[in-house]
Amino acid sequence: MNHLNIPALKNASGTIRLPGSKSISNRMLLLAALARGETEIRDLLDSDDTRVMLDALRKVGVGVTALGRNAFHVVGCGGNFPIKDADLFMGNAGTAIRPLTAALALSGGDYRLSGVSRMHERPIGDLVDGLRQLGAVIDYTGNEGFPPLQLRPATITVPPVIRVRGDVSSQFLTALLMSLPLTKKAAVIEMTTELISKPYIEITLNLMARFGVSVERTDWARFTIAAGQSYRSPGVMYVEGDASSASYFLAAGAIGGGPVRVEGVGRASIQGDVRFADALEKLGARITWGDNWIEAQAPVAGKLRAFDLDLNLIPDAAMTLAIAALFADGRCVLRNIASWRVKETDRIAAMATELRKLGATVEEGADSIAVYLPSARCVPSGTIQPNAAIDTYDDHRMAMCFSLAALGGVPVTINDPTCVAKTFPDYFDAFAEITAPVIAIDGPSASGKGTVAERVATALGYHYLDSGSLYRLTALAAIRAGVALDDEAGVAPLAATLPAVFEGGRILLGGDDVTDAIRTEQISAGSSKVAALPAVRAALLDRQHAYRRFPGLVADGRDMGSVVFPAAVAKIFLTASAQARAERRYKQLIAKGMPANIHALLQDLQERDARDAQRSVAPLQQCEDAQLVETTHLGIEEAVAAVMEIVNERRRVDIRIDV
Ligand code: DC
Repeated sequence: MNHLNIPALKNASGTIRLPGSKSISNRMLLLAALARGETEIRDLLDSDDTRVMLDALRKVGVGVTALGRNAFHVVGCGGNFPIKDADLFMGNAGTAIRPLTAALALSGGDYRLSGVSRMHERPIGDLVDGLRQLGAVIDYTGNEGFPPLQLRPATITVPPVIRVRGDVSSQFLTALLMSLPLTKKAAVIEMTTELISKPYIEITLNLMARFGVSVERTDWARFTIAAGQSYRSPGVMYVEGDASSASYFLAAGAIGGGPVRVEGVGRASIQGDVRFADALEKLGARITWGDNWIEAQAPVAGKLRAFDLDLNLIPDAAMTLAIAALFADGRCVLRNIASWRVKETDRIAAMATELRKLGATVEEGADSIAVYLPSARCVPSGTIQPNAAIDTYDDHRMAMCFSLAALGGVPVTINDPTCVAKTFPDYFDAFAEITAPVIAIDGPSASGKGTVAERVATALGYHYLDSGSLYRLTALAAIRAGVALDDEAGVAPLAATLPAVFEGGRILLGGDDVTDAIRTEQISAGSSKVAALPAVRAALLDRQHAYRRFPGLVADGRDMGSVVFPAAVAKIFLTASAQARAERRYKQLIAKGMPANIHALLQDLQERDARDAQRSVAPLQQCEDAQLVETTHLGIEEAVAAVMEIVNERRRVDIRIDV
């Protein structure tokens, strides 16, 4: 079985750009298909569930063209799908099968909709009952009330009132609302039971309005669509970041110190799940909002407060709170979450089983769950059972939320982690980017930090980043492109798009092996010039952050501890006298049979030191929280030992190592 071992973690901090919202992506795709005119959708989520929708639309004849990984051009068909007979595979995508069933049933044709076996256990009867009131002909080809479905052409007439239940899934109402304008008739929907997950209906109404159809809402009980409305493309549309996915990172910030910032959702968001941030705030977390970002930090007091909350409005993000409960100071109760039972898996049962593996006591109710770590385990802190192997039930949210348990300072194994592809294929890389431990080794040129850092990385089994090589590659790329090294506007785009590949100790630039070419004295001097340009430093930042992966990273450079990884678990400033460094470089060059002059080397080094230390951005300096390793009189082995001692000491303090 495929699994991912997440090491013991303690801290979380950094910034994550969220992938597009699943709920908005799939609604926009369908509305664009139902509209008259052409729509360009940007920042669309690229995941299993959106692929299901895109494939289905293509199969029924909608013109869909990719303009890149996250942008699509959709030629609307005005509600009349060109292909009238098709077999459609819906995977386990509720946001695809429900609205497509309604749209296809009202547009007329022979369609068969099926999915994975779990999809055939997820109810759709309330929606079918609603559509049958309009005369739609829909048969169950498996079990009554569940997919697979057979849709047939029918005469559609809108009755005075369509009645539908709202207490199983709000997607049934979403599906009816989105498809009714196809009839061009006036329509009234009345809820026969209390509507759950209301914020998702807000998303639906908001997006319908952007496509030109307005719905009058009377409380949450009655929805009226006036006659003669039809969808018109608004042209170019942007998908917000996924607010449910934001919950894992915000919780990580609240549990692991923070600050963690998510970009792509904020004050202006139309997704109800942004209210997860309010729930975290009730637990004591410090939350800050921007128009398009949210940031979370741990409570001033450290530990989160126990809670008892009605989470009906944020059912998906609520799963993250069940894990946050492990970090709270008492028994936590999550209420009014019956919809968990009919999601990707029975989430109440799955959550209870897996939380118990972490040592939690769990009380499972019909529509609630209570979670706590027994008090005996609460002292000392970090009492989550180590090395639990968490099953994920083909449910992306189980995999994502349980990754947070590792922040209790315990290793956790996630079984079948690739199920995150449903909504967030790169989830674990993003999670590692804010949590994987980093050891930052900064220092001047030729101090030996590269060799030391690489050996420390090998000893720990960590990844290694030689950030200097990125500046060297940038200088080489600029020289090759004929761009002057002080031309900030010309060099920065080269840095942002370096076609560099690091492979088994070799470095390729645009396919050329440049391992030795970037080590010449000309490039050494050039790299220190491009490194002084603020736009170049900014352009290389994301690339450096992407090196932060499990189980950890050793990064060497000038500003690893101060700018790039300010929350590094250990920060080391490795140096030696200029004379000693010049002698080392001299010996290296002679050993390689290259010409060398000790005086010229010393002068060169001193000039580079001065430039690196005096530049306005990220100057070379020993940060306050970095520990000095002075290697003038140390050999490589001794320098490695000195760094390892610091690292082990820091890890003892920062991470409880449970073996
Ligand atoms: O470590 P190195 O000698 O390979 O670095 C090459 C140049 O890049 C050096 O002059 C300083 C600059 N640099 C930097 O400004 N920031 C870093 N993090 C790494 C290197």
